[in-house]
Amino acid sequence: MDLLRTKPIDTNLTKDTGLKRVLGPVHLTLMGIGAIIGTGIFVLTGIGAANYAGPALVLSFLLAGTVCTCAALAYAELAASIGGSGSAYAYGYAGLGEFPAWIIGWMLILEYTIAISAVSLGWSGYVNNALQAMDWGLPSRLLHSPFDADTPGLINLPASLIILALGGLLLSGAKMSALFNAVVVCIKVSVVLLFIAVAAFHVDPNNWVPFIPEPALNVRGEAAFGWHGIAAGAAIVFFAYIGFDAVSTAAEETAKPQRDLPIGILASLGICTVLYIMVSGLLTGIMNYTLLNTPSPISDALLHVGVNWAAGVIALGAIAGLTTVMLVLYYALTRILFAISRDGLLPRFFAHISPHTKSPVRAIILMGVIMALISGLIPLGDLAELTNIGTLGAFAVVCAGVLVLRRARPELPRPFKVPGGPVLPVLGILGCLYLMINLQHTTWLAFLIWNGIGLLIYFGYSYRGSLLNGGSVAESSGSN
Ligand code: ALA
Repeated sequence: MDLLRTKPIDTNLTKDTGLKRVLGPVHLTLMGIGAIIGTGIFVLTGIGAANYAGPALVLSFLLAGTVCTCAALAYAELAASIGGSGSAYAYGYAGLGEFPAWIIGWMLILEYTIAISAVSLGWSGYVNNALQAMDWGLPSRLLHSPFDADTPGLINLPASLIILALGGLLLSGAKMSALFNAVVVCIKVSVVLLFIAVAAFHVDPNNWVPFIPEPALNVRGEAAFGWHGIAAGAAIVFFAYIGFDAVSTAAEETAKPQRDLPIGILASLGICTVLYIMVSGLLTGIMNYTLLNTPSPISDALLHVGVNWAAGVIALGAIAGLTTVMLVLYYALTRILFAISRDGLLPRFFAHISPHTKSPVRAIILMGVIMALISGLIPLGDLAELTNIGTLGAFAVVCAGVLVLRRARPELPRPFKVPGGPVLPVLGILGCLYLMINLQHTTWLAFLIWNGIGLLIYFGYSYRGSLLNGGSVAESSGSN
């Protein structure tokens, strides 16, 4: 059994793969921002400050942002030299071998599915608040899953419906989805800028003292604050940065992938990092961190300083933000499934491309239905942290892939190279592992169970189905 068989690298990154090459650098940057700014900044900032880091939340953002920058540079190098819709999975297949690649692909499926479902719950809450403000609030039984421990209901209807609606948009093709994303990203970035502009005039520097609170137990009974709190805060707000990796899954729909993927990945992460650091610094400056343990910290902080009109605007920004996060992550999920299935490691069902819209229709429909059911019926709660562990694992592997491929394939064209030799990829690996260690034990347990299922599928199906094992060629455009 050869678990480390590698897939040959095809350096022709602009060949026809059945998908339509319609995206450019601006689309990709907006796509990255679309996936990045969302729950992390609109919800997790408050939890991070109140429960873990205090005013030093800004350092948590800096730490997580530094780890992500190392990973983003590694993504940029591999996306520009290897490409492919499979992103980290495809880079792992080329550099590390089939079995590690499968594990990464399996982690990415977890990352995106859980993230989309978790974000849909936040979206549902915000939309219902907006409906309530107009006296159209939904009954509680249509807002909660039957398994919700506190308030059991029938289904979280808005969460399910938004996923199905986004699925419908994705079915119309990458160009239409990118256009919608661009408009909604403009709304959410304007709202974030508005918060920065208003908050800058209401800072009370006393709120930043002490900047790093003394180590203590938080309200959840966990060790928090001090340096440990900054690291634990970083492991949580890391979620806010997830999404730039999704840009790399657009490789087969990008006109000039070698040039545009590094631009899209690095520009989107750079813009969001600057915004995050400003928002987290100002948030703890206008409202004491002890008061921030709320699901809507950004609007609550503005209400706290008397800017009452802002709550509605922030809610609009949050709804817009969460919508594009789901859209882009859903897009990325279907492209990864497409790539894995095309290689024969999952049933070829997912590799079918519509001859009309040139998009992987079956992957979009099936995953839409699965995620709509998960969002409507399962209370995800802490499972959102699973997204972090899966993503951190994938980021570490991408950094390792840069190091391995530079040794194994030094001659490979590298239109973009991580500067500074091996230093940043090594820092990226260490940083990801450090943040992984700082996640909760329950997250690790669920992660191990997921990977156990992945092992069963690999040895039960994928190893034999793989094209490298002589499996039959995947379906191409228009077949079936
Ligand atoms: N970065 C995305 C968010 O914060 C996943 O919602």
